Amino acid sequence: MKTRFNFPTRILFGEGVLSDLATECQALGCKRPLLVTDAGLMTTSIPEQVLDVLKQAGLKAQIFSAVSPNPDADQVDAGAKAYQAHNADGIVALGGGSPMDAGKAIQIRINHHDPLESYDDLIGGDAKITGALPPLLAMPTTAGTGSEVSRSAVITVAAAGRKVVLFSPRLMPNVAICDPALTLGLPPRITAETGMDALSHSLEAYLSKGYHPMADAIALEAIAMVSRHLPMAVAKGSDMQARTEMLMASTMGSVAFQKGLGVIHSLAHPLSSVSGVSHGLANAIMMPAALRFNAEAVPDRVIRVARALGADEATSEGAASAVESMMDRIGLPKKLSEAGVTLEQMDSLVEKAMQDGCHGSNPRECTDTDMKALFLAAM
Ligand SMILES: NC(=O)c1ccc[n+]([C@@H]2O[C@H](COP(=O)([O-])OP(=O)(O)OC[C@H]3O[C@@H](n4cnc5c(N)ncnc54)[C@H](O)[C@@H]3O)[C@@H](O)[C@H]2O)c1
Ligand SMILES: [Fe+2]
Repeated sequence: MKTRFNFPTRILFGEGVLSDLATECQALGCKRPLLVTDAGLMTTSIPEQVLDVLKQAGLKAQIFSAVSPNPDADQVDAGAKAYQAHNADGIVALGGGSPMDAGKAIQIRINHHDPLESYDDLIGGDAKITGALPPLLAMPTTAGTGSEVSRSAVITVAAAGRKVVLFSPRLMPNVAICDPALTLGLPPRITAETGMDALSHSLEAYLSKGYHPMADAIALEAIAMVSRHLPMAVAKGSDMQARTEMLMASTMGSVAFQKGLGVIHSLAHPLSSVSGVSHGLANAIMMPAALRFNAEAVPDRVIRVARALGADEATSEGAASAVESMMDRIGLPKKLSEAGVTLEQMDSLVEKAMQDGCHGSNPRECTDTDMKALFLAAM
């Protein structure tokens, strides 16, 4: 058996590592960074703190904040224009998955000019991402996607009518600067939803097909960390220990899912694009049904997940119940119907879930009948 492992980005982690940003930029030859962030963050003091660190070191940064949740190709093009106008020589991506992914896509746009959807991983577009990309420094302000150490960027392309996944080892940020202090002000609901995204990455990676014991070990530890610390991060956002553990668990989840994801993400993607459910919430609601479904194929693994979750019973039912009781504790709805999903959307949800690539690495094969049953079980 031959296997290729790619382990991550240089990571600076801990309270206060923001102060190392300027030195890291300089080490990458970046003196005029474009600071990519979003409107929500602009209402906080975080972008100003980042600008201060850069200014004090004599770096000339320009802010680009026209990025929405689930960023789109037009925003990426506008970001690339802002990069050129500033005569920038690198990107600092500050925020949740949305600005970090936008930063990665802007990075591609600097020297790749075909329509963005032509770089879609689903059609082999990864091979078209070549040459040197500008340096990218990623600073997460949510604990969920782990985009700061991932090789992908998810961008909505209206022309293609879907979310396009850009994927290339070249998209791994040159450095991830993970400062949990930047997550202290994240509101409880976003903390809960993004935290469940982090859990879903580790859980799916652990259950996914393929041989990757290193990813498995990281995934199990990250599952335990989320189950111990997410309730406190939601209940008391200023708790630095809970924020620190959650940020680390989210980064670990993304390292682990280099192994692969599974059916939860295939079900969740159309729940966002068709029904407007946030990514983390969609994953969370589908998790118990998917655990029960996958237990048939990988019962021992689901039992280990139950243990990592601290479930009352080390069984597949125990794992599913532990997720449900976590959702109660962090105040998330457990049913799709409570999140605005309707039965009329079912056919479109099933069709798009089948088309999604993530279930290719699910431990149990999924037919469209299975997809429908999973959605219905969560209604
Ligand atoms: N690249 C990857 O590997 C990967 C993995 C999973 C998901 N994604 C993508 O990431 C995106 C979702 O990212 P997300 O869940 O982190 O949410 P997000 O980046 O869309 O942010 C959600 C909201 O939280 C606000 N926010 C962020 N940090 C804050 C802070 N510290 N204080 C106050 N408000 C703050 C933002 O302004 C925004 O309004 C989706 O587009 C999804 O497809 C990417
Ligand atoms: Fe995710």
